[in-house]
Amino acid sequence: MDFKYRENYTIPVKQKHFREILTIQFLCLKAIAKKNPWALKTHLIIDLTAGPGYYDTKEKMGSPLIILDERKRRNLYSKVVLIEKDKTNYTALIRNIEKHFPSGLNDYLVNIECGDNREIIKKYVHKICPIQYGLAYMDGFGEKDADFYLLSLLCDYYKRVDLIIHCNCGAIKRSVGVKKVNGFSKKMNLEERINLIYPRKKAYGLVRDPYTQWQWSIFIFTNWDAYPKFKKLGFFPIDSPEGQATIKKLSQKGTKNENEKS
Ligand SMILES: C[S@@+](CC[C@H](N)C(=O)[O-])C[C@H]1O[C@@H](n2cnc3c(N)ncnc32)[C@H](O)[C@@H]1O
Repeated sequence: MDFKYRENYTIPVKQKHFREILTIQFLCLKAIAKKNPWALKTHLIIDLTAGPGYYDTKEKMGSPLIILDERKRRNLYSKVVLIEKDKTNYTALIRNIEKHFPSGLNDYLVNIECGDNREIIKKYVHKICPIQYGLAYMDGFGEKDADFYLLSLLCDYYKRVDLIIHCNCGAIKRSVGVKKVNGFSKKMNLEERINLIYPRKKAYGLVRDPYTQWQWSIFIFTNWDAYPKFKKLGFFPIDSPEGQATIKKLSQKGTKNENEKS
């Protein structure tokens, strides 16, 4: 397999992939709700690292606005939780949502929360709910934001809520072996992080081809055997030879150049 990283990775590429995955996911959620009368009619969509809503100065939509936009477009009945810890970003998020939906969201199902996702999430995990469908999205900058513990906690409560993680695998790789940061005596490598979730808590996993020397990748975890494969976006099932090779490459320390270059 050729591991020359694709270099032309920009925020629009990330957002394009996210929107495509979300669109299909929403269609599937709608179909599943129709097929399974026992499932909760309100999907749960959580953006754990929402950001300011727009990126650049050109009012291009970030993940929270993409979620709200697709939800409106598909006429979906979903509960949306947007979590952002940075006060400035949170304020910008509120402002940008108001700008994007000038007549207001008018929606008691949308919660916009300011705080650390590890704390805020406690409000949303009261009891195990196997009939709740939905998805949680995590899209942090660095290694500390890739909190697979938090994601594995969500799996315990919501077996049918899928996970999408946009991940700086290069940053995780570099952090391994660095001692005692934030109370962790040892940083977990990517394989160890994935093992917290897959295959024990989510039976199926997809990994996307990494981009740039930072090895930006996307992981999707689900318990749904018929989950779309997103081959055109460069995804492989984790248990396929290509997926295994990708995970191995993303977990192992590479060349000096790869470890140091941004
Ligand atoms: C890469 S940005 C998110 C971009 C967003 N997904 C988008 O598409 O526009 C990461 C955001 O996550 C926030 N963040 C990082 N760690 C967090 C945490 N533990 N709890 C809540 N927000 C967090 C950061 O403040 C930052 O605004």
